[in-house]
Amino acid sequence: MAERVIPLIDQRSRLLAVPRGAQLLPKSGQLVDTLGRPLRDLRISVTDRCNFRCSYCMPKEVFDKDYQYLPHASLLTFEEITRLARLFVSQGVHKLRLTGGEPLLRKGIESLIEQLAALRTPDGEPLDITLTTNGALLTRKARALKAAGLKRVTVSLDGLDDAVFRRMNDVDFPVAEVLAGIEAAHAAGLGPLKVNMVVKRGTNEQQILPMARHFRGTGITLRFIEYMDVGATNGWRMDEVMPSAEVIDLLQSEFPLVPLEPASPGETAERWGYAGADGRYDPALGEIGAISSVTRAFCGSCNRARLSTEGSVYLCLFASQGYDLRTLLRGGASDDEIQSAITAIWQGRTDRYSELRASLPSQPGQASARRVEMSYIGG
Ligand code: GTP
Ligand code: 5AD
Ligand code: SF4
Ligand code: SF4
Repeated sequence: MAERVIPLIDQRSRLLAVPRGAQLLPKSGQLVDTLGRPLRDLRISVTDRCNFRCSYCMPKEVFDKDYQYLPHASLLTFEEITRLARLFVSQGVHKLRLTGGEPLLRKGIESLIEQLAALRTPDGEPLDITLTTNGALLTRKARALKAAGLKRVTVSLDGLDDAVFRRMNDVDFPVAEVLAGIEAAHAAGLGPLKVNMVVKRGTNEQQILPMARHFRGTGITLRFIEYMDVGATNGWRMDEVMPSAEVIDLLQSEFPLVPLEPASPGETAERWGYAGADGRYDPALGEIGAISSVTRAFCGSCNRARLSTEGSVYLCLFASQGYDLRTLLRGGASDDEIQSAITAIWQGRTDRYSELRASLPSQPGQASARRVEMSYIGG
């Protein structure tokens, strides 16, 4: 096996000053970036901690007992997050996703959800508020999350076989507890529920069919994600990526599938419906999704901004620098000033990393060593 290089440079403090002086958009105007992409989706990381150590995200050798997580004072408070979310919503955001690390580890998360659930779009519509979780705390928290105003959850689950799952989370966490968490979320009405499975060739591809068999016909949408080169610590290699096309072929060998239209613009997943005996999509059997971030990049419609745990805006999952909104917030900036900063940041956006991946340098020490971790800006 080729040697893996795990750089240990801390990129969290590489912040960009926020551009000043952008004109606020007229209330009816739509904010778009340099490639004409609107801002629709804000992903908010509420903690950089996690109780799992998935090797593709927070490998144990890096995120060990000596790893310096962010001190509490650096984290945005719930009031600060809500204020920023409100200002992003005024600029076009319709969907909020809470991420981490593991967002359910943030103390009092229900109270943040309550505050976010009270926000409305400029047209008076409620927001789509969702959360990505590893499911470990869901049995305990699902009902309270629903009561606080959370609409739905997406649970990460990389296999059904207990031994494979324990190896992937690398903290020996049993799969049965995550499955119970998914049940609890389902029972609490946190739907439509999605399950995300990162497929790593040589590690869990034998779990694809069992996972499909398990979730088919349950109303839960299983999505297969290509293992990505995010961050700088997971030692990513192309030969560990299983292209979605192969995943779909494998599934088709057991279950006939038919392509479905995207449910919303800029959707990450290609949708496939299970066909019934007549060869047509059978909604009772449900659907699966394929997220092909490596083999079929979807940057052309990427409408996602990411807010890090300490209040910086990242314009791409693969960005190495974020724009520091926390200094603005804590320096007493007005709503107009912050809105105009958000406008300027989005209007200057050029990011389309996954489309450019093949032509970028791939040697350690170059671009990849400077990327922030996904556990810091959120999946
Ligand atoms: P839904 O609203 O439920 O469709 O959520 P989503 O697909 O927008 O978000 P989710 O967090 O479930 O995304 C699933 C996975 O897709 C993430 O964990 C990432 O692996 C990948 N992903 C999400 N957004 C991006 C993105 O902007 N770029 C890339 N390259 N991958 C992304
Ligand atoms: N490749 C693809 N997806 C990843 N995630 C984390 N790291 C990676 C990676 N290297 C996503 C998974 C997980 C979520 C929290 O982040 O979807 O479910
Ligand atoms: Fe934690 Fe999710 Fe990262 Fe796994 S993928 S280490 S569960 S944040
Ligand atoms: Fe968006 Fe960057 Fe992902 Fe492309 S690589 S889809 S620009 S986050």
